[in-house]
Amino acid sequence: MTVIAARGARFGGVELSKPKSASDQRAAVAIAALRPSEYTAALIQVLQANAGCVRGAKVLEIGSGSGVVLAALGALGASSLCGIDIEEDAIASGMLLLEELGHGEAAEFHHGDMWSPVGDRRFDLIVANLPHFPMGDGAIPGRLPTWSAGGLDGRRLLDPFLEGLPRHLAPGGRVFITHNAFVGVERSRKIVERLGLAFRIVLTTLVNIPDGKLDRMSAGVRSVEEGRSIHRYGPYAFGEVHVIEIGG
Ligand SMILES: C[S@@+](CC[C@H](N)C(=O)[O-])C[C@H]1O[C@@H](n2cnc3c(N)ncnc32)[C@H](O)[C@@H]1O
Repeated sequence: MTVIAARGARFGGVELSKPKSASDQRAAVAIAALRPSEYTAALIQVLQANAGCVRGAKVLEIGSGSGVVLAALGALGASSLCGIDIEEDAIASGMLLLEELGHGEAAEFHHGDMWSPVGDRRFDLIVANLPHFPMGDGAIPGRLPTWSAGGLDGRRLLDPFLEGLPRHLAPGGRVFITHNAFVGVERSRKIVERLGLAFRIVLTTLVNIPDGKLDRMSAGVRSVEEGRSIHRYGPYAFGEVHVIEIGG
């Protein structure tokens, strides 16, 4: 496990906010690859609507990407902000963003896999917008390979995330996650209820699924879900996405 302190962070060895030369291009590409998505927006919308459970909370985000969800949580008054990501560029991006926005002192980032960097620690609020698009390994155009791919059924990270909650959620704590409708919402509900936690859909929205992404969707999921949770209009496709609240 590597823990990187917020102070003195660099992103690809260059100044993030003002790319000036050709040597800054790698950082610029990394920033572009970590840009927030419609899923990110839906998650932030729900967190803003639940500001009461953010204020004063010790927060963890698994898969922190650009750091923008933690930035939103900091703005809503979280007392501490812990981010984990498998990508080093995401760690650097998150640290710089939170520092720029004045949340550097409250922030802590860990480069690592899922729950492993936080041992047995517990948090009042846990959030995640995990890679859970049903597809084999590979990259969606313009993204890193680790951004979306959730294995053929989309649940490669989702299931261990849910199973880890009892060990990491503080008493009375809350969880908010994005959840594609086409990767088995009822399966997630069963897991969460077996763990003794409550499961509630708090937002359902549609997100655009670009061509390069739909082409990579597992054939089995696509054939079942087109016309159900995946809506196609000629060359354009949209998928249903929920934000789920999980609590004690
Ligand atoms: C869909 S993106 C979400 C990023 C950000 N939270 C947002 O909403 O914009 C998923 C993030 O999970 C990270 N990730 C992928 N596999 C991971 C793993 N095994 N452990 C921790 N983070 C992981 C990716 O690097 C990426 O930043």
